[in-house]
Amino acid sequence: MYSTDLRTDKEKKSADQQILDDAELWDTFQARIDNGDTIEAKDAMPEKYRQTLTRQISQHAHSEIIGQLPEGNWVTRAPTLKRKLILLAKIQDEAGHGLYLYSAAETLGRSRDDMVADLLSGKAKYSTIFNYPTPTWADIGTIGWLVDGAAIVNQIPLCRCSYGPYARAMVRVCKEESFHQRQGYEIVTTLARGSAEQKAMAQDSLNRFWWPSLMMFGPSDSASTHSSQNMKWNIKRHSNDELRQRFIDATIPQAEFLGLTIPDPDLKWNEERGSYDHGDIDWDEFWAVIKDGGICGKDRIQARRAAAKDGVWVRAAAEAYAAKQSAKEQVA
Ligand code: 3HC
Repeated sequence: MYSTDLRTDKEKKSADQQILDDAELWDTFQARIDNGDTIEAKDAMPEKYRQTLTRQISQHAHSEIIGQLPEGNWVTRAPTLKRKLILLAKIQDEAGHGLYLYSAAETLGRSRDDMVADLLSGKAKYSTIFNYPTPTWADIGTIGWLVDGAAIVNQIPLCRCSYGPYARAMVRVCKEESFHQRQGYEIVTTLARGSAEQKAMAQDSLNRFWWPSLMMFGPSDSASTHSSQNMKWNIKRHSNDELRQRFIDATIPQAEFLGLTIPDPDLKWNEERGSYDHGDIDWDEFWAVIKDGGICGKDRIQARRAAAKDGVWVRAAAEAYAAKQSAKEQVA
């Protein structure tokens, strides 16, 4: 419906010509990156840079949008009015993150309608974490603590990503994610200090979400297809395994403080590395969730398709209003 591709048709055409991927453009572009320059929407860029960013930012946007669904499951059942209001505000923030990110991706030339169509057709990827169910209230706490916590570790470096519109969007996203993480940890703290039954609920949720949270950082470095080039382009600043390790090291003391146990018998402090060694991640599960959608994938896409259908009249009304306003402005 709306587009934020800032280039004129002429500029798009000339960019297309520069896509010839000539060595000179790559060298000049790499020199700008190495110099720490920020790349803006109208700048010449290799087509591969444009494509990988469009891919990553649109997947990120879809994750924010789909990520509302597991939490939406608890809006009507939050234990208090205050909890319900906080949860609603958080879900609304995620919708806002999706909006900034679709807008940032549109500056690279792809329309939001196209990106959403890929999500609804099941073609586009989004984070595997959101295909896990949230059967208990403790899951809302664990999502804030672990999922938003992992998102922060992964996304703070993206505030320094070489592509300006994405980096700027991430600054605000990270500030909000930080609030989300703290509200989640506060819910888990309340449960961990509550009755034995509540503490058991928190532990059970940690048991279910720990490994999927580690998978949020992507496959191990040896299996990551995009990392090496995207690090050269300063899109990524750290590898998947580096950020995963950073998250593990930060989270273990938080679990210990609550008296909860991380479900990994192989976790062990490694004095030499100054980091925790951890057990093997089940990559077969990760790839299976990407491929088949895991437990909730079909429901998630179905819910977004229904929302798109139910929202047709809202989009039509917004378009009609925008046309009316613009006609009025032209007359004035
Ligand atoms: N779920 C689904 N797919 C994943 C994935 C995951 N957790 N991790 C990696 N993949 C996919 C990649 O998209 C890629 O697929 P493609 O080639 O078909 O596009 C493939 O697996 C190989 O992975 P790579 O390591 O080569 O991919 P990247 O270099 O892009 O790294 C990433 C993956 C670390 C997720 C990176 O894209 C990234 O940092 N993205 C931005 C952050 C993001 O999207 N986070 C998702 C969660 S959003 C969120 O948490 C919302 C918050 O409110 C909680």
